[in-house]
Amino acid sequence: MSNNSDPNRVVIFDTTLRDGEQSPGASMNLEEKLHIAQVLEEMGVDVIEAGFPISSHGDFEAVHEIAKVVTESTVCGLSRATRGDIELTARAIEPAKRRRIHTFISTSPLHMKYKLQMEPDAVYEKVVESVGFARRFTDDVEWSCEDGSRTEHDFLCRCVEAAINAGATTINIPDTVGYAVPDEFAAIITMLRERVPNIDKAVISAHCHNDLGLAVANSLAAVQAGARQVECTINGLGERAGNASMEEIVMALKTRQDRMPCHSTIRTEHIMRASRLVSAVTGFVVQPNKAIVGANAFAHEAGIHQDGMLKHAGTYEIMTPESVGLSRSKLVLGKHSGRHAFREKLKELGYELGDNAVGDAFRRFKDLADVKKEVFDEDIVALVDDEVLRANDRVKLVSLSISCGTAKPEAVLELDIDGKVSACEGSGDGPVDAAFKCIKQLFPTEAKLQLYQVHAVTGGTDAQAEVTVRLEENDRTVNGQGADTDTMVASVKAYVNALNKLLVKREKTAPSALSA
Ligand code: KIV
Ligand code: ZN
Repeated sequence: MSNNSDPNRVVIFDTTLRDGEQSPGASMNLEEKLHIAQVLEEMGVDVIEAGFPISSHGDFEAVHEIAKVVTESTVCGLSRATRGDIELTARAIEPAKRRRIHTFISTSPLHMKYKLQMEPDAVYEKVVESVGFARRFTDDVEWSCEDGSRTEHDFLCRCVEAAINAGATTINIPDTVGYAVPDEFAAIITMLRERVPNIDKAVISAHCHNDLGLAVANSLAAVQAGARQVECTINGLGERAGNASMEEIVMALKTRQDRMPCHSTIRTEHIMRASRLVSAVTGFVVQPNKAIVGANAFAHEAGIHQDGMLKHAGTYEIMTPESVGLSRSKLVLGKHSGRHAFREKLKELGYELGDNAVGDAFRRFKDLADVKKEVFDEDIVALVDDEVLRANDRVKLVSLSISCGTAKPEAVLELDIDGKVSACEGSGDGPVDAAFKCIKQLFPTEAKLQLYQVHAVTGGTDAQAEVTVRLEENDRTVNGQGADTDTMVASVKAYVNALNKLLVKREKTAPSALSA
């Protein structure tokens, strides 16, 4: 079956918030998930897999809240093949204008024998029962055969046929362990189209993991063989080596229409914004040479390339930076730029902010322009996202001064905790250590620091530092972010942001633990 009467339209199913979040350390809180869902919707994602409601209260809540605010994209929740899972997912997605239940069960011999400890006939029964049950709640039901690429073909065809007869409208074939190679994966799609008699009643989908670095190649091979949905994540986030990267799939389809006469309806100019946001929220830095969104993806360093580019951009550029949301001239605004120019820049970067939010962002931009001569697109993105990410923080940095060098580093720090300002002085093995010790004195916690990472937003010694701090407490992991032209201020902001997130997590699991 094709989509919306256009046989060549590829449905983009984003699972950054579900499969992506399953990456160790990539946990996101509710506000962050809502923010990402909103950006995905603005970029035109067809289906947002918002979570796995049975897996935790937080996942249920995230799916439920996203379902309340997303109106254009379909909101999807994942379920195992049990009534309990499916019922809970149905409740979570209930407020959504367009809702999908995605139910899955393993079908490969290895998974059935060792993971499920079920006979194939029992698995087959579960397929029929789970899909039929899911259809009671919505007409949009997706069925996945986990470890599909290693499933015995006859059994795969039987299960797919049964799932469609039971009411599945999308049939997803996962390469769960990233084992398939492109011609093999394409052949599975072709086989299903040839052998499953009712296959024209469902959209075939590909869900590829990247263990051999082939997730995008396998997804595109599936599209060429007739799949019309791809499941993917921003920046290729996901368990182990990740999922297929959305930006790579979308831009490959757009750039190579000659070989793949298919298209998505993604607004590709939103790609950079989504990539930066997901990277900032998770602390998963995008490698500089990553296709499409890496810092060097559009850089032309070699003299011979630069010469070619000046004569004709097409000599070394197969897509324009603008098409993914980068402006060719990154030097944008300075100290003397006015509010109007700033508002236009925000629009160009994909932000649609209300008057008050623009006013706040403009004030912070002026402060930044006072200390940084040249303000680049990346600076503005960091500045706006930084504010959005800490909007609800209960603990805030008031002031910080650090002395360091050859003498023992000393920090003097003030924090606002629920409206009360407290101060502390302390020393440490280095400036970061001194500052973090002060925070711990003012706000005692057992949380362990798992990651401290500094990243320069742009080049130059006056660049803003973007810091990620990952804290872990009783199996709860949070990522805090902070950006500032002063690396130490950015570090403290990031630590404090992580503490705030921990507070929210504690609140949800044990309200009595709030008195830190
Ligand atoms: O990789 C996988 O098999 C999955 C399924 C749950 C779709 O994520
Ligand atoms: Zn997966």
